[in-house]
Amino acid sequence: VEETYVMVKPDGVQRGLVGEIISRFEKKGFLLKGLKLFQCSKELAEEHYKDLKGKTFFPKLIDYITSGPVVCMAWEGVGVVASARKLIGATNPLQAEPGTIRGDLSVQMGRNVVHGSDSPENGKREIALWFKEGEICSWVPVQAPWLRE
Ligand code: GTP
Ligand code: MG
Repeated sequence: VEETYVMVKPDGVQRGLVGEIISRFEKKGFLLKGLKLFQCSKELAEEHYKDLKGKTFFPKLIDYITSGPVVCMAWEGVGVVASARKLIGATNPLQAEPGTIRGDLSVQMGRNVVHGSDSPENGKREIALWFKEGEICSWVPVQAPWLRE
């Protein structure tokens, strides 16, 4: 099954947007498999964003992600990776469409409130990176037959 790692970044937590952000994925109909409030280390942040290591903004990005607690989420569903990226919107919040999380709730790339994995492979990699095995639950919601024929 396809899974994606979604994370409310420290600005989203500080601004009281956790419920709003979780709610968008919940209402869409994806399955929540993992959820926690977590203060991440510099090492974990660097591993998570390792593909961006050479970028000039990398040190600032690591400071941002480690500046306070984040909310870690694992979501499952057919097509969840691409769909979550659509719900989240463009990296630059000023270019993100209204109706998307970033488009509705943020104004700057360095404070864009939420993360979503960019491929199914990275979804699995990031869930394994941020969660321990016992923190992921597989379950069948009662609404399952009302979401898919
Ligand atoms: P994530 O979901 O957080 O991975 O964002 P993304 O996939 O939309 O963008 P990308 O992976 O390319 O960059 C990761 C994060 O680095 C972005 O969400 C921004 O917070 C930050 N970032 C990317 N590009 C820039 C930039 O040019 N300047 C600054 N200050 N931050 C950037
Ligand atoms: Mg990314």
